[in-house]
Amino acid sequence: FSTLIKCNIADGPCEIEFLPSVDNLVEPADYNNFTQFLLKYILTEGHLIGNGIFEPLFAGHQSLQEREETYYAKNQSLHCGFVEGPEGYPSSGFDLDEHDRAYMATCRVVVSSCIFGGSDYLRRPTKSRIGSYSKKNVCFIMFLDELTLTTLSSEGHIPDENGSIGLWRIVVVKNLPYKDMRRAGKVPKLLAHRLFPSALYSIWLDSKLRLHADPMLIIEYFLWRKKAEYAISVHYDRTCVWEEVLQNKRLNKYNHTAIDEQFYFYQSDGLVKFNASGHDPVLPSCK
Ligand SMILES: *[C@@H]1O[C@H](CO)[C@@H](O)[C@H](O)[C@H]1NC(C)=O
Ligand SMILES: *[C@@H]1O[C@H](CO)[C@@H](O)[C@H](O)[C@H]1NC(C)=O
Ligand SMILES: *[C@@H]1O[C@H](CO)[C@@H](O)[C@H](O)[C@H]1NC(C)=O
Ligand SMILES: *[C@@H]1O[C@H](CO)[C@@H](O)[C@H](O)[C@H]1NC(C)=O
Ligand SMILES: *[C@@H]1O[C@H](CO)[C@@H](O)[C@H](O)[C@H]1NC(C)=O
Repeated sequence: FSTLIKCNIADGPCEIEFLPSVDNLVEPADYNNFTQFLLKYILTEGHLIGNGIFEPLFAGHQSLQEREETYYAKNQSLHCGFVEGPEGYPSSGFDLDEHDRAYMATCRVVVSSCIFGGSDYLRRPTKSRIGSYSKKNVCFIMFLDELTLTTLSSEGHIPDENGSIGLWRIVVVKNLPYKDMRRAGKVPKLLAHRLFPSALYSIWLDSKLRLHADPMLIIEYFLWRKKAEYAISVHYDRTCVWEEVLQNKRLNKYNHTAIDEQFYFYQSDGLVKFNASGHDPVLPSCK
């Protein structure tokens, strides 16, 4: 069950009727009515490529068949996120300081964001909008690469003795899995459940946005109140994968052949263009 956030940034600020305070939030009880199953994580693997070299890849070198299996609620072992190579290849393709990883593993509720490749400013959450419960219990994690940390430091954003800048705890990532920084940013954006294995809830914040509301109120409004499992905002302009592909090529966002390959892959996985007059039970890939 999901909630689509139909709120257009271009139309100005959204009027969202959050509860006035976090004091009487109620998490729906039957959220817990999920199938119970146990997960074990594959932490090392030994896939060497042709010339005996191991290429680290965040989330491991799983086959599509293995990936398919992970979608079922059953007891299983799966590639989590941090999969190291054989001896001599310790990189997981998204390497963190062990203290940061230990801290992240304790998080139950997370707000996270990233800036890679020095591509953006650091926007701090608005402290006055965030209550003491969240300040104490929510993990605010900003992933940076070393270049961005250096850039921000030279602009006066220097982490304090606890590694934080304002509410953000700065987590530096080494050995990013992709050279293309936009692509590397998809790891924390889409794989928060792997980065934060104990988290029940996580909120992804684009680095262009400033967090201006208490995260518990956001979770209550978009998830608990509607018993939704996730909420996602609609794109401010495009609602069609077919158009998105064209736009990505127009803006030269990525290698066109690779865009096509990905697009064909989605189609081979079942993506079809939405047909308003048809009756196929498909997601509206195109309005
Ligand atoms: C839990 O889920 C099962 C299967 O979907 C359903 O039959 C049952 O009524 C649910 N229990 C509660 C307390 O909602
Ligand atoms: C997973 O294993 C546990 C304990 O071994 C068992 O109680 C549970 O029913 C299993 N879950 C599924 C979905 O098979
Ligand atoms: C760092 O953490 C310690 C222990 O939680 C705390 O006492 C101290 O005030 C923190 N420092 C800053 C600059 O927030
Ligand atoms: C573009 O992507 C294709 C397919 O993945 C690849 O074969 C090709 O080498 C790439 N070109 C460049 C310039 O990276
Ligand atoms: C849309 O669905 C209608 C009814 O099933 C069908 O006649 C029509 O050919 C479809 N159009 C496209 C573009 O697939």
